[in-house]
Order: sequence, then structure tokens, then C-alpha cells
Amino acid sequence: MSALPDRAALIQAAGDAARNAYAPYSGFRVGAALAFDDGTVVTGANVENASYGLSLCAETLAAGLAMSGGRRGGLIAVAISGAGDAHGGSDVALTPCGRCRQVLGELAGLGDTDPVVWCSGGGDTLELRLSELLPHAFGPNMLKS
Ligand code: THU
Repeated sequence: MSALPDRAALIQAAGDAARNAYAPYSGFRVGAALAFDDGTVVTGANVENASYGLSLCAETLAAGLAMSGGRRGGLIAVAISGAGDAHGGSDVALTPCGRCRQVLGELAGLGDTDPVVWCSGGGDTLELRLSELLPHAFGPNMLKS
């Protein structure tokens, strides 16, 4: 397993990505930074839609960008940072939504890693493994008949 990236730097990358969020409806900007074992960092921000339910989360977009760029596995760390337009940062550590956990799990599973997930907010960072956020995950092994 490769060395983890610097925690503060990856959280900073997620915070920087949040500046590109398109969140006119919720006013809540989220950024995600995915770190890979070759040192690459891929970021994403949430992109909302006037048809609210079509909004895309930062983590899902980052994972989609990484995979559409050809990545298959190698995911070692994830940082998430969010803030409402009205404040400087989230009041609590921002954990990924259920769909994002599953999407991150697909990418991580391709390389058989269990990435650390740094959830920032509330002046603190919650550090969890993806397997702790998504226990008993549905996966490709279950599709076998
Ligand atoms: N959001 C994310 O980008 N990631 C999450 O894990 C949770 C929620 C976004 C979706 C929506 O644009 C806004 O935050 C408020 O829910």
C-alpha cells in the first residue's frame, strides 16, 4: 500500500474544489478530493439542477471523472469539505451520502483498497475507512449466479 497523502493538503484540495460548486438551490457547496496510489489527485464539486433530484454530488462526480479518465482502482484516500454560502464551513464533519459511498466503493473495489475517508467540518476531521462508512456493501461478487 502506498503512503497516504498529507491529510491537511487533501482536505485543502477538497475545499478548493468546492469553490467550483454549482449549488444555487441548496447554497451548500461540497468539494471532494480523491488521492490515488500514483500520487494523482482528482477533485469534484457538487453540480445542482433546477430539477432538484438530478443534482450530482461532489464525490460521485470526482469518482466519475477519475473513471472516465481511465482509472480503475488505486484509490487510497478521500477528503470531503463543505460549506453553506452563509458560513465559513460546515458545522459538523461532512460524511458522504449513501449513493456516494456506493460509487466510491465500486472504484476502490477495482483495486482492492479500503480508502481512508477524511470528513472535514465543525473544526474537526472525522477519519474513517470506506468499509466503516459502507459495511456489508453490495458488490460485484453478489451478481454472480
Ligand atoms: N452533497 C454532496 O455533494 N455530497 C454529499 O455527500 C452530500 C450532499 C451535495 C448535494 C447537494 O448539492 C448539496 O450537497 C446539499 O445536499
